Amino acid sequence: MKAIVCEKPGDESVLKIGEVPDPVPGPSDLLIRVSHAALNRADLMQRQGLYPPPPGASPILGLECAGTVAAVGTAVSGWRVGERAMALLPGGGYAELAAVDHGSAMHVPGTLGDAEAAALPEVYLTAFLNLFMLGGVKAGAAVLIHGGGSGVGSASIQLLRLAGARPIVTAGSDAKCEQCLRFGADVAINYKSGPFAAKVRAATNDRGVDIILDSIGGAYLAANLEALANGGRLIMIGLMRGAKAEIDLGAVLRRHLHLLGSTLRTRPVAEKAEIVRQFLARFGADLEQGRLRPPIYRTLPLADAAMAHRMMQASEHFGKIVLKIV
Ligand SMILES: NC(=O)c1ccc[n+]([C@@H]2O[C@H](COP(=O)([O-])OP(=O)(O)OC[C@H]3O[C@@H](n4cnc5c(N)ncnc54)[C@H](OP(=O)(O)O)[C@@H]3O)[C@@H](O)[C@H]2O)c1
Repeated sequence: MKAIVCEKPGDESVLKIGEVPDPVPGPSDLLIRVSHAALNRADLMQRQGLYPPPPGASPILGLECAGTVAAVGTAVSGWRVGERAMALLPGGGYAELAAVDHGSAMHVPGTLGDAEAAALPEVYLTAFLNLFMLGGVKAGAAVLIHGGGSGVGSASIQLLRLAGARPIVTAGSDAKCEQCLRFGADVAINYKSGPFAAKVRAATNDRGVDIILDSIGGAYLAANLEALANGGRLIMIGLMRGAKAEIDLGAVLRRHLHLLGSTLRTRPVAEKAEIVRQFLARFGADLEQGRLRPPIYRTLPLADAAMAHRMMQASEHFGKIVLKIV
């Protein structure tokens, strides 16, 4: 099959179309003929050799895809060849075929196009896992999302709105802040125009937020603690600005704060299946009725994967960048 291959770690120029053997699905797997795959920030790190795939996963980039089912494993029920599928992948999305445990796949509702379906699993399941399963978001909660215009950020805004919570976001330009507000954020703070913590406190009558979904890491730790309400949860999912920081543990004790971290990709397939199950139980009707819809910034042909990576690196996008495979 055709796929993007990186012969060695490096800049965008290492992304080349090549021929590789077809994946061989196991008894619990679906084989998906991929029509679209979406980019994630982690792909940029993997390309540079900084985020190796988990053991047993495809070395090909790509954490989510959509297409049609080409084969169904002998131990799988509930799927038929020819049905539309979208899936969370541990790797292997930038290719014509992807094999995936059936528990990581979801049926695509008629309300979603193929590019939108490909752009949904990784970011909506990450937002759902962290905000709802680990964060316990309730209606009325104030939630700070760093990178409101990112794939995960835009998914978070949509899920929080549907849950009756209050999304407060940061973004790197006034234009992106405007886009976040139009997309459903309640407050958008341009983090390049001054420290965000005081603005978060001002937006919450000095109470602070109940939850922060943080993909920035070390450089934001102190300001994140300042922006949290007493009893609040800081949930760390990325380290775009460092893995190390000094922390005032006194504040954590006095203010009853919770610090959590998580990754989705490395989880066993049974845990991913449970996340998918709970996501569909909570938001399946919204998905069916078209209320969950990732914003697509650009769709490019697979051959332009390098250009797509440059676009993401430049952070000019709002929402998702998608590759059209066939
Ligand atoms: N732990 C998990 O399971 C998991 C799963 C999925 C994603 N993630 C993490 O979630 C984050 C978002 O992923 P994504 O694919 O949605 O990303 P994305 O669409 O590429 O968006 C990331 C955004 O972060 C902002 N940004 C980039 N570098 C920054 C920096 N140095 N300081 C501050 N902001 C910066 C940019 O927005 P502005 O223009 O507003 O600056 C950028 O658009 C990544 O850190 C990713 O690794 C974690």
